[in-house]
Amino acid sequence: TKFSSIDEIIKPKFAGKKVKLRGWVHRQRSGKKIAFIVLRDGTDTLQCTAKKSELSEEKYEEFCNIKYESSIIVFGTLQKDDRAPNGYELHVEDFELIHLADTFPITKDQSDAFLLDIRHLWIRSQKLTQTSRVKAKLMEGARNFFKKEGYLEVWPPIITGSSCEGGSTLFQLDYFGKPAFLSQSAQLYLETLIFAHKKVFALTPSFRAEKSRTTRHLAEYWHLEAEAAFLDLNGIMDFEDGLVTAMIHKVARDEKKSLIALGRNPKDLLAIKAPFERIKYDEAVDIINSKGVKIEWGEDFGTGHERALTKDLKSPIHVTHFPREIKAFYMKTIDGKTAECNDLLAPEGFGEIIGSSQREEDIKIITENLLRDGSDIADYEWYLDLRRFGSVQHSGFGLGIERVMRWICNLEHIRDTIAYPRVMNRNTP
Ligand code: 4AD
Ligand code: MG
Repeated sequence: TKFSSIDEIIKPKFAGKKVKLRGWVHRQRSGKKIAFIVLRDGTDTLQCTAKKSELSEEKYEEFCNIKYESSIIVFGTLQKDDRAPNGYELHVEDFELIHLADTFPITKDQSDAFLLDIRHLWIRSQKLTQTSRVKAKLMEGARNFFKKEGYLEVWPPIITGSSCEGGSTLFQLDYFGKPAFLSQSAQLYLETLIFAHKKVFALTPSFRAEKSRTTRHLAEYWHLEAEAAFLDLNGIMDFEDGLVTAMIHKVARDEKKSLIALGRNPKDLLAIKAPFERIKYDEAVDIINSKGVKIEWGEDFGTGHERALTKDLKSPIHVTHFPREIKAFYMKTIDGKTAECNDLLAPEGFGEIIGSSQREEDIKIITENLLRDGSDIADYEWYLDLRRFGSVQHSGFGLGIERVMRWICNLEHIRDTIAYPRVMNRNTP
């Protein structure tokens, strides 16, 4: 007989059928006459029950001594069992150990620090398995949406010669004896690519040397960015609303079990509908102050400000038109005072998930902004060429995948949204 996978057999038509499975021992419990393992095979888990009366004495003994995380082949009959977590159990008739594991180091109630040190084993846990599945579905929803909207997926470089988001969070490296940087954002390259493809998107790792320890910053995160020609600020916000809705609805439909286990009701995500509310920075500043958190006009938002603004909300909200002095050199200004930009903030206090803007077309203003920031114009000559050869109105954004994950998986710390978190004090395993 062929091997089956758990997710395909826990269905009524397989009840009473003989199946062969292989995987890892997730839990184990044994008594005098009956013993259980929970088998995990990468698609789901299944309780497998062995009775002493139905195996040889020797085999039963072996079954009782299987350690956690051993790899195993089990053979038996699938039975409906309403007490089992997914409604089925396997009645074991035979089994074969592939590898008897050493004593597994992870037991109950271990410290966060230990679990991070042993991350390569902890990623087998239910919680991290569920978050990985949710993340894959988020991206599937995103790719479907980009395809439907006619965006081409592209692959910008990660090693770069110029900064996109300011020097203070740049990781520098030695590039054959000369300095180079790890990308903070693919934006400037995506801007070049719209002249070839009109509408593009990319998923790339982005790097930020964040010197503060927070629950929402990683040094390496996955950045989903898009850029489109002939689109203004309102147009890009409409697109973002459609994209975020498509992503979270995909997860709500296809990963219900994982979401519920993580403490998020899929129905609440399905209730979120585009378009999202849009308010200007000025109004946001008033609201934040009215919630008792102090902020002055001209200050950028910190975690506490965004929490005050979003903690009572159920849907994401856009904050537009920040003062241009605190924003990046590439953002367009119409009134000379504010930028044609928006941050999309997740509800329930989670805060920023997207940074976005219409881009400045005027080469003079961009050059002034670069000088204001103390940048070397020579490093940006290639970028300025975009304003010399067929310049058009265009807009784009960057979405932090782990920021969205933290919100929809209801996680306190961003490190639990990624298999191998890179933060200030950790780059292993
Ligand atoms: O707001 P940011 O810095 O904007 C940009 O990088 C633009 N160049 C994007 C663009 O227009 N193409 O970053 C965009 C998003 C943030 O909204 C946040 O979701 C995420 O990237 N992000 C981080 N996620 C995790 N850890 C960090 N240290 C992050 N920094 C930014
Ligand atoms: Mg930002």
